[in-house]
Amino acid sequence: MQKNLNKTLYSEQLFKVWSEKKELLPIEDYFIKKYFSNKKAKTLEAGTGGGRIIFEIEKLGFINLEAFDYVEKMISFCNNKKQHLKSSIKFKTADATYLNEYQTEEFEYLIYLQQVLCFIDKEKLPEALKEAHRIGKEESLYIFSFLNWDSKIYNPILSVLVNFLRILRIEKINKYKLPWLNINEKFNWRFLNKNQPNNLWFKEKHILEILKNNGFSIIEIKSKINSSDKIGHIHIACKKAN
Ligand SMILES: C[S@@+](CC[C@H](N)C(=O)[O-])C[C@H]1O[C@@H](n2cnc3c(N)ncnc32)[C@H](O)[C@@H]1O
Repeated sequence: MQKNLNKTLYSEQLFKVWSEKKELLPIEDYFIKKYFSNKKAKTLEAGTGGGRIIFEIEKLGFINLEAFDYVEKMISFCNNKKQHLKSSIKFKTADATYLNEYQTEEFEYLIYLQQVLCFIDKEKLPEALKEAHRIGKEESLYIFSFLNWDSKIYNPILSVLVNFLRILRIEKINKYKLPWLNINEKFNWRFLNKNQPNNLWFKEKHILEILKNNGFSIIEIKSKINSSDKIGHIHIACKKAN
């Protein structure tokens, strides 16, 4: 089986930077405070990394919190931090595409922020969305974010170049999946090489269609709060539809 290059990236090169991040971004703060009003609601964060978001949610007074990540080292980091902070968050190692760790209709609020679903292959994305849908209670609320294809003017050019090379190399990779240009604030000079970790980027209309087709009804879409914010991510609040 092919190695998951993004998983390796997060357990090695990106471990330090993502485990040490703190505080909510203004857009995350906006969505969490607007949609998550019941502090007793059972809440889950997918792809928690070093727990930046879920520990902040606990600070807001939420008492029934869980989080998972597929990188074991991130979860060990979170469990150490949990002891230090005397937190009650339950952390598990799990993959968003197969959440047998969690029961059907278990959570009222679910968070999939900061690219978590953008590391999954487009063909496997419905599996992750089906799992997210399965573990949500009836009418549960979700906050998702996705990389915004239209936020980078060079994406179409990069896509032509990268996908031309993929054809020559007989690699079958979705055309919206692009290599990382920047890893740990350094330019990734190997971005055109074979076997590079990739991110899936979305056009807004495509991701809305995918979410609707997988049982979510859209409540709000927003890319920025302040005019100076970058619009790299599309943030979407959804409700579980039946
Ligand atoms: C950009 S980091 C964001 C971490 C955290 N959500 C935050 O905003 O601080 C993405 C995280 O998602 C995790 N991840 C990516 N794909 C995943 C998957 N299929 N299942 C579980 N975790 C995943 C990575 O290991 C990484 O820790």
